[in-house]
Amino acid sequence: MEKMTSDFNLKSFLKQNQKCIDDALEEFIPQPVGAFAQIHEAMRYSIFAGGKRLRPILCLASYHIFQSEQDDLSSILPAASALEMVHTYSLIHDDLPSMDNDDFRRGKPTNHKVYGEAVAVLAGDALLTLAFEVVSKTEKIGSETVNQVLQELALRSGTLGLIGGQILDLDAEGKTLSGDQLKAIHLHKTAALIQASIRMGAIVGGADEAPLKSLTLFGEKVGLAFQIVDDILDVESSTETLGKTAGKDVNQEKSTYPSVYGLAESKKMAEALKNEAIEEIDLFGEKGEPLKSLALYVIERKN
Ligand code: IPE
Ligand code: IPE
Ligand code: MG
Ligand code: MG
Ligand code: MG
Repeated sequence: MEKMTSDFNLKSFLKQNQKCIDDALEEFIPQPVGAFAQIHEAMRYSIFAGGKRLRPILCLASYHIFQSEQDDLSSILPAASALEMVHTYSLIHDDLPSMDNDDFRRGKPTNHKVYGEAVAVLAGDALLTLAFEVVSKTEKIGSETVNQVLQELALRSGTLGLIGGQILDLDAEGKTLSGDQLKAIHLHKTAALIQASIRMGAIVGGADEAPLKSLTLFGEKVGLAFQIVDDILDVESSTETLGKTAGKDVNQEKSTYPSVYGLAESKKMAEALKNEAIEEIDLFGEKGEPLKSLALYVIERKN
């Protein structure tokens, strides 16, 4: 296997960053007390059910290409946490009976199974709204940068990004798509937020246009590979390992990479995208190692 790094330890990097993100989320999401205890409890239920925290970790890794300061993360933690809030909202809504109708997520019953559909819809709405509030209050980075980050998050999670992709995904159920149509779904529903994660980190870090362009391409390729692997795991893995129901894409006649290209070809495509992604960020040298390792993790992950 290709040797990725000299001394970079992905496992401890993930663990350390997951803890850092969880601590920030703990602070940003209101406690489940008082008049609105139930909605805050429902938000926390899905956020703290687990999750790899990939999007915030990509955001931090991208930020650190431009800012080496490891101790004071106060300017980047709002953006990183907001990404996890938007992602978790998208999962709560994705699982609703009117969408993918899933009973398990992150190893637990889905939000609507525990709190009912109305509260689950509102818990998703509340996480989405809170994400923008949290970013808007970021200190030390100046209002122009805050605005840029807000736009980035809004654009790529909106109808031209994640939401648009979810619409295409639902439309495609039971249909036979071309490769280009399938790619468009995955780029929108999944790659867009992953691109936002990497771009937001770079923007807060103070990146110029040229590196931002390379990182945007890296995000597109890693994001597409991520959803291809999600499709593959749905076929090959178990409900226990995934923490969400395996085999559901076939049941729901979803358009996926394995359904269009077969498993072997899908794996080759994901691998090729990972290699192309890594090439995009060669220019960052040593500073790009964490992102390169994360690209590898996206391909090799088990859940
Ligand atoms: C699942 O995302 C939804 C997709 C976009 C494929 P993740 O696999 O990142 O889910 P968590 O956050 O680890 O639960
Ligand atoms: C979800 O894609 C993409 C989102 C924006 C949530 P999937 O529907 O394949 O995600 P899972 O498999 O339910 O996590
Ligand atoms: Mg879905
Ligand atoms: Mg789903
Ligand atoms: Mg899936």
